[in-house]
Amino acid sequence: MTGLLRDRTIVIVGAGPGFGRTLALRAAEEGATVVVAARTSSRLDGIVDEVREAGGSAIAAAVDATDPESVRALRDTVAGHTDAVHGLVYSAFSVPSMRPLAETDHDQIARGIDLSVLGALRATQEFTPLLEAGAGEGSPSSVVMMASAVIHHSRERYAGYKIAKTALVALGHSLATELGPRGIRVNTVAPGYIHGDTLTAYFEHLAAKYGGTVDDVYAHTAAKMDLRRLPTEREIVDPVLFLLSDAASAVTGQTLTVDCGEFHT
Ligand SMILES: NC(=O)c1ccc[n+]([C@@H]2O[C@H](COP(=O)([O-])OP(=O)(O)OC[C@H]3O[C@@H](n4cnc5c(N)ncnc54)[C@H](OP(=O)(O)O)[C@@H]3O)[C@@H](O)[C@H]2O)c1
Repeated sequence: MTGLLRDRTIVIVGAGPGFGRTLALRAAEEGATVVVAARTSSRLDGIVDEVREAGGSAIAAAVDATDPESVRALRDTVAGHTDAVHGLVYSAFSVPSMRPLAETDHDQIARGIDLSVLGALRATQEFTPLLEAGAGEGSPSSVVMMASAVIHHSRERYAGYKIAKTALVALGHSLATELGPRGIRVNTVAPGYIHGDTLTAYFEHLAAKYGGTVDDVYAHTAAKMDLRRLPTEREIVDPVLFLLSDAASAVTGQTLTVDCGEFHT
């Protein structure tokens, strides 16, 4: 622990069992009070228990990022605990349609945009006053939105996901321009793969569909990376901690790709 986020309040919207849980634990380890928010209260309570058992500080708050009233209620809950927020991470995600565009109905694409893009905008809009209150001289507040390295390729069946995450990057650029004068930085992180349970379930699906084992799918996928392996959850989380911290106080409007070297951007 280096105290990178000491005395900061960090809100994670879309705190899942993989990335979100690891981020909550690491941010708390670095001194932050963490607010974990998603729809599944039982999981959030489990994350809070883990953080507290490790000596950290955390609060759970249910939210549906697609519901404006729910996001407002989250803001009110957080405002009941603190008058300033220093970091907001938006990572809400659900498995997108993997059909070719010709077979993808427009509602599926719209749902992906609603969750990934408008959800991030709703959360940022609601938390802007608290983030502004958290900004100090030479210590801007920070919004980090989770995109994907899908923005760098146009492989078949990834179109719906690519459309949503590319729009999220565009949102990040425009928010950085608008919120910079208010002391708020906005960046996106584009993980290639996150080697955890969500990805393993996807690899199990691919192994069942195309034959072979999960290890075969991993090896085939990792062969395209410069480092010949896939990033762990911790290796995605630590660059996010950097962007949340004052070590990145001059970094805004950027997309940081973290993918063991699959794409050179
Ligand atoms: N896993 C990968 O390999 C990978 C690769 C590239 C990019 N990414 C990106 O990295 C981020 C984290 O990925 P992950 O795999 O760790 O995801 P994850 O574990 O599935 O976590 C995302 C969480 O978002 C929450 N969520 C979904 N809909 C929501 C809603 N309407 N309102 C609030 N929360 C909602 C879900 O929790 P509830 O169901 O409890 O709401 C889910 O657990 C995502 O943005 C993803 O697109 C992941």
